[in-house]
Amino acid sequence: MPAPLTATAIAHPNIALVKYWGKRDDAANLPATGSLSVTLDAMRTRTRVCFEPGLGADRVRLDGQEDAATSRRVSACLDLLRRRAGVAHGAVVESDNDFPTGAGLASSASGFAALVTAADAALGLGLPREELAQVARIGSGSAARSLFGGFALLRNQADGGVTVGPLLAPEAWPLRVVIAITSALPKEVGSRDGMAASRATSPYYEAWLHSHAADLEAGVRHVQGRDFAALATVAEHSCLKMHAVMLTTQPPLLYWLPATLACLQALQALRRAGTPVFFTIDAGPQVKAVCEPAAVSAVRAALAAVPGVTRVIDSGLGPGAYRANG
Ligand code: DP6
Repeated sequence: MPAPLTATAIAHPNIALVKYWGKRDDAANLPATGSLSVTLDAMRTRTRVCFEPGLGADRVRLDGQEDAATSRRVSACLDLLRRRAGVAHGAVVESDNDFPTGAGLASSASGFAALVTAADAALGLGLPREELAQVARIGSGSAARSLFGGFALLRNQADGGVTVGPLLAPEAWPLRVVIAITSALPKEVGSRDGMAASRATSPYYEAWLHSHAADLEAGVRHVQGRDFAALATVAEHSCLKMHAVMLTTQPPLLYWLPATLACLQALQALRRAGTPVFFTIDAGPQVKAVCEPAAVSAVRAALAAVPGVTRVIDSGLGPGAYRANG
């Protein structure tokens, strides 16, 4: 019997500074907007993929649990790579996160980036990162960005496709991200369902789409120019516009907790007092504070003092997904 084809990969979550929310095409999982992100080094997903001759269906375990919806998304990505490799075997996929899953900490981003990197290596395909990002995007739009380290950019193209690639290496502008955890519980409405509901019901959705391209181009300019204050303004505006769309979705997508708002107020007070820091929040209650390295201890202390913050994680900017031993 031929040997199983096995590889392991590690990927880090990423946090968008100019957000993705909404889809152009549900079946192809094409985003309605581009996005700009930073990949974080403090948290990681480790995924082992083993294609086994004779195995008819994929078996997927995430943090030891099986889940039908996740398995379908994993199989859709694996099918694309199996086709490229001319392999029909089912795969055993084991993935674990060293941080809470499904709680607005971008576990699907690191998860699908690690998956395609491990599967590519197991099948001996050796595809370039840009191509793996296109496969990861089918699993989760934000995952395409975790193939790259530092600042990553996803742009919609006129032909209907997207391009994903690196914008700036982590060492070129080594910002820090301090994450305030306010709840480790999984969110009630995931991004996929939430985006569909926003498109169908939020009166602000069209305005979000129409104003997005200018934010993205401004974000790119400010990253390239290392202009922290200007990036802060664009990133907070993009985040709050996305949450305005979420809040005006029916039923409303209210991802914030009281501690989330208290963190924003603490960060605004710090910034008014001259500390270079800005906030962003994804589809969950956690607050991510992006700051210059010299500000980390002040930001950490301010967030840790907010009632309801259960843990503070301090992260640098991390590398793109990579193959690991195991
Ligand atoms: C709020 O990438 O999780 O984190 O493509 O449906 O899997 P799917 O959505 P996902 O959405 C991420 C939304 C966000 C903003 C962002 O990361 O840009």
